[in-house]
Amino acid sequence: MAAAGPLPSADAVFPEPDMTRVELGWQLFYDPILSGNRTVSCATCHHPRLGTGDGLSLGIGDGGIGLGIDRKIDPENPPEQRIPRNAPALFNLGASEFTRLFHDGRLETDVTRASGFRTPLGTEMEAGFDSALAAQAMFPVLSGDEMAGHYSENDVAQVVRQGFLTGPGGAWDILAKRVEAIPAYRTSFDTVIGADTPVRFHDIANVMADFIRFEWRADNSPFDTYLRDATPLPASAAKGMELFYGKAQCDSCHSGQFQTDHGFHAIAMPQIGPGKAARFESHNRDVGRMRVTGAAEDAYRFRTPSLRNLPETGPYGHAGAYATIEAVVRHHLDPVASLHAYDPTMALLLPPDYDNDFALQNTPEDLAAIAHANELTPISLSDAEVSDIVAFLRALQDPGVAENRLGVPATVHSGLLVDQ
Ligand code: HEC
Ligand code: HEC
Repeated sequence: MAAAGPLPSADAVFPEPDMTRVELGWQLFYDPILSGNRTVSCATCHHPRLGTGDGLSLGIGDGGIGLGIDRKIDPENPPEQRIPRNAPALFNLGASEFTRLFHDGRLETDVTRASGFRTPLGTEMEAGFDSALAAQAMFPVLSGDEMAGHYSENDVAQVVRQGFLTGPGGAWDILAKRVEAIPAYRTSFDTVIGADTPVRFHDIANVMADFIRFEWRADNSPFDTYLRDATPLPASAAKGMELFYGKAQCDSCHSGQFQTDHGFHAIAMPQIGPGKAARFESHNRDVGRMRVTGAAEDAYRFRTPSLRNLPETGPYGHAGAYATIEAVVRHHLDPVASLHAYDPTMALLLPPDYDNDFALQNTPEDLAAIAHANELTPISLSDAEVSDIVAFLRALQDPGVAENRLGVPATVHSGLLVDQ
């Protein structure tokens, strides 16, 4: 077997947690108060029971009831469409190397800008976010399909519809005032920002980011232990590691301690669901990074995902097209053939069916464009080699992730129902 390439070092840097802030963020993360209709919390789509995702290929935000595969459509408020991308896991986002968020990296740290970030909002942005991770919270609360709800339904959705986001009376201000009006939140914020300072949306976002950094640190997998003190991996995982860093060259993209170069690559991943068309367009494509940069060479490039805790985080790929680790690894062996042979039963979607669930797969021009953009060279691996690689990927799971964590709160300060 070819010698493995250089292994990464286990030197990730995480901030020291401030538990007052972490516990406040914990409450807010699980509190549906941040959604227009007070029904969806961040945890609805990022639940620890579902690997900090939602366990679905493409989720349902506002208009659903319950969690994961048991989530049901609310007949009184059916959603117009599925969320167009797979809800990513939130593991290790506190490590300093994570500065780009979303499958297309449309939110990233950018020190050349006054705000410190590059975001699709441009100047329509509030100040005061302490990181890209905190600034991220601005987005789901504005999305009608995710948390805001539809425009006639509530105060947040109405102002979002009018484009009224920043400043007094804007969407983020309405949410901050809702939170501040609850005495237990106000008291907690007294400690964090001072009793005389009004609660602003960025204060909420900053403590939720502290919670995510603390709660889902997961850098103590068997692989991390191996890197730190050479404790051997089980035989099959050890062979898989050699392949990953050697012959299979997975580390040419999945590099570093968390198996990501934080870059963008086109690997002909199948696309399902509504896609990312602008309001006036009618297609089901998601061109990925090109939507951010406008550059043709970025078509169908998506961010290299970190490969931590995969047994919990499926389905896989930016649209969740593959429900198993083995299937998404096999996709890499011959991406274009795999794209054309895609079997819709590999997706995990809640009923009812939507017309656009598999529309792209039946649009030859779109398939051809995705195939044309592919950058990943096919590689031949035996079945035994594939299963060794999968064993290695399993050794990237931090089994201690559920211990010493806050877990799901029994109640939140608003008194609204918490998804358990
Ligand atoms: C309805 C489901 C849904 C809800 C509710 C939701 N998210 Fe997400 N989240 C997603 C999806 C889908 C993405 C990926 C979107 C994309 O790449 O365009 C995402 C991306 C993220 C990311 C970026 C992760 C990464 O690695 O790039 C973070 C952080 C995050 N969400 C945190 C939150 C927080 C905090 C809240 C509550 C304010 C929240 N989410 C509410 C579905 C949801
Ligand atoms: C050319 C860069 C590149 C190489 C080489 C590469 N990958 Fe990937 N991989 C990606 C990108 C990009 C994605 C996400 C693509 C998308 O969602 O459209 C991905 C997705 C994955 C996923 C799904 C993760 C998730 O959470 O959705 C797994 C597992 C994976 N790769 C494993 C591997 C393995 C194992 C190898 C080596 C056999 C490998 N990759 C080689 C770029 C690469």
